Formats: sequence, C-alpha cells, structure tokens
Amino acid sequence: MAAMFTVLIGAQWGDEGKGKVIDVLTERADWVVRYQGGNNAGHTVEIGGVRHVLHLLPSGAMRPGVRCVIGNGVVVDPLALCAEIEELRGAGVDLRDRLFLSDRAHLVLPYHRAFDAGREAALARGERIGTTQRGIGPAYVDKAMRTGLRACALGDPEFPRIVRERIEAANRHLAAGGQPPLEAGPLAEQLAAAARELAPHVTDTSRLLDDAWRRGESVLFEGAQGTMLDVDFGTYPFVTSSNATAGGACTGSGVPPHRISCVIGVLKAYTTRVGEGPFPTELNDATGEALRAAGREFGATTGRPRRCGWWDAVVARYSARINGVQQWALTKLDVLGGFDPIRLCVAYDLNGRRLDEVPADARALAACRPVYEEMPGWAGSLQNVRRLDDLPTAARRYLARIEQLTGVPIGILSLGPGRENTIVLDPPGVGAG
Ligand code: IMP
Repeated sequence: MAAMFTVLIGAQWGDEGKGKVIDVLTERADWVVRYQGGNNAGHTVEIGGVRHVLHLLPSGAMRPGVRCVIGNGVVVDPLALCAEIEELRGAGVDLRDRLFLSDRAHLVLPYHRAFDAGREAALARGERIGTTQRGIGPAYVDKAMRTGLRACALGDPEFPRIVRERIEAANRHLAAGGQPPLEAGPLAEQLAAAARELAPHVTDTSRLLDDAWRRGESVLFEGAQGTMLDVDFGTYPFVTSSNATAGGACTGSGVPPHRISCVIGVLKAYTTRVGEGPFPTELNDATGEALRAAGREFGATTGRPRRCGWWDAVVARYSARINGVQQWALTKLDVLGGFDPIRLCVAYDLNGRRLDEVPADARALAACRPVYEEMPGWAGSLQNVRRLDDLPTAARRYLARIEQLTGVPIGILSLGPGRENTIVLDPPGVGAG
C-alpha cells in the first residue's frame, strides 16, 4: 500500500481546533509529527468528556499505538516536555517506546524564557507581540545565530556543565537588562535530570520517517499556530518565529516535498486571535463577547481571552494558496448557532480601494475595513447532527458559501469538541485504505 503523508495546518491565527481534527484523523494513522513551534502551542483533545491539553507532544499521543515524532524544526523545552510526559503517565498514557525526539531539535532553556519576558516588557505598548513567554522567539534566535543547543546534547555527559555555563553567561545579559538572575546550579540539576529522562527518546527522526515511507505507512504532520502567525507569511512582526505553513513540514522533519500526499487546512467557522497584531474582522462588541463565550475562546496555553470576529474569506483564500490546501476541516460551526444574521468578510477596503489579498504591511492590514456579506443564521444546537443532510438549511448554505469563496471543498466538519461530533465528508488521504 502506498504511504500517505498528510500535512495539517492552521489556516487562520491558530486555535482553529487542529488538535481535535488530528485526534480524529489519527484513528488510522501510524505516526504523528510536530514540525515547528514549541510549547507555545496548546492542542486540546477531548476524550470521553475529559479535556487534555498537549503543548509539545503530538496529538497522536492520546492514541495507543500511534508513534509520535518531535521533529528538528520544533524548539523543545526539556523541563516542559518532561512535565507533559509525566502528566500523561499519570493519566495512564505510556509513551516509552513511541515518542521520538529529533537529535537536531533545538532546546529552549530557562534563559530563553527570561529573555522572552524581558523583551516583551521592554517594548512599548503598540510594539508588543503578546508572546506566550515560553522562550520560543529567543530559542529560534539562537538557532539562526548558530549558538543554540540541540537535543543531541542531552546524552552528552558534559551536558550539566554546558547548561550551567550557559545559564551563567545568560545571567550577565539579564543583569545588563535589569532582569533578576537565574539560579544556575539548581536549574542545571533539573535540566540534567530532564536530559536523563529524554535521552532515550532522542534519535535521527528523519530516518524513521524515511523507513515509514518505505513500509507504506500513514504519517500526519501536525502544524502548530497558523498561517497568519507564520514568520514569513503572517502579519509580521506580530507572528511567531517559525514556519507554521505547509512548507515547514518538510524543513521541520527532513521529509522531501514530493512525499507529501495531501494538505488539509483547519479553518474555524469564525475567526480568533490571541496576542497583539492586526485582525480586520475583530468584533469589539457584544457579538464578539458572545462568540468568545459560546466558543469557549480562552487560550489553551496562557488562558488569555481570545479576540473574536467574523469569518474572513481573504485570509482563508490566502491560506489556501500559500499552503496548497486541498480540503478544509471546518471547525466550530456549532458555535454560530443563534447568531443571526451571520456576516462573512469577502474583501477589504483600504482607504476606498478594494483589496482581495492580505497586504504585507501590518499597518496597512490594520487600516483595512472588512467588506461584509450577510447570510441568515440558524437556531439550536448542532451537537447531535451526524449527517450533512441533517444540518439546518442556513448552515448548509453557509458552508457552501465558504467553499465557493475559497475554491476549496470542506472534507471534514466538526460540530463539537468530542470525537463523535465530527462528520467526515471526503475521507482525506490518511488511512484511506
Ligand atoms: P510566541 O510564539 O510565544 O513567540 O508568540 C507570538 C505570537 O503567536 C503571539 O501573538 C502568540 O499569542 C501567538 N501564538 C503562539 N502560539 C500560539 C498558538 O498555539 N495559538 C495561537 N496563538 C499562538
């Protein structure tokens, strides 16, 4: 059987519900791979009414038998990863023989977190990015500066000395910036213990994925954050520091581009954003608050309230193009129940000029006013709907309009948090055999 390598990306500003979609798709997947970002991500999976939030571990972790890869493009906080493994162990999830950490993945160390917090605090209000303060940006800076420490160092007997020296060196920078020093000794000990725990998982994961390909296995690449937070294609500088778009799956895992069989875009039926930066369809009114309440829109990592607004076709079309999306997994349609009318942004107005594309300049995007179209809404819950035909007509028309405006079909429809609240209309490549 031919191998199926499927990439799943967020098409908006993250928090589209990727964790849930991945969890549904992993039913028949052999591997799930994280390829960028770090524990800034928070992928929520709800199983049997119990919510689990995964930050670094691939969402396949919750399925026994699915092998999980943390690829070279991910930045890994060893202390956070150990805590997550421990938490899942407590919930009866054993990852001993099925978690593989790339020897080339860069480490996020305590001083990266301190630098992240210090930089944000030093910026003026309008310049702040509103990062998750997990040290992600500074860790990628070290990677690009060629001063980073990688997972292959975890098994080095010298690791405790190396991290201690690095923390001491970082303390000099922290002092220069007026930040308190880190406790080098105790932190180095904690990191040494984490290194012992993680070292058995460290390997050349690109080889594992090559072998998987040869055996005809199914691999899911789990994008974190979203297209509009991508360091190249997002609303720069209000972005994360990695390539959250589909191309990142190759550079972040060592898999060649021609092996990718399918790209699925996860698209929320409305739009949210956490942190600062332009967001044309944002609703700073009662409707926005009602969306937040109905969709439980609070950050899975930081608990921050998410900014909420109407669905934006300009963003969705842009994401479809940049990622080569072949089908949408449309999530949270149920949340729109009771909103009437529903508005869709079909274009932007920039100083009287109509725009159909996302401008590169964040200031121009901030000045864009949405051009809306209205559609009738529907009442009542969709959580018990199991077939497309059972959806209210207005909901079906909304879906059809999204397909028409983006030119991409909806293959998966999510109508609630549970695995059972999912309609798979067009089985994607993964596991389809
Ligand atoms: P960082 O990735 O922590 O540096 O944060 C940069 C920007 O990306 C901030 O606006 C964060 O709120 C946002 N961000 C980072 N990770 C996620 C995520 O998983 N979901 C949504 N937003 C995120």
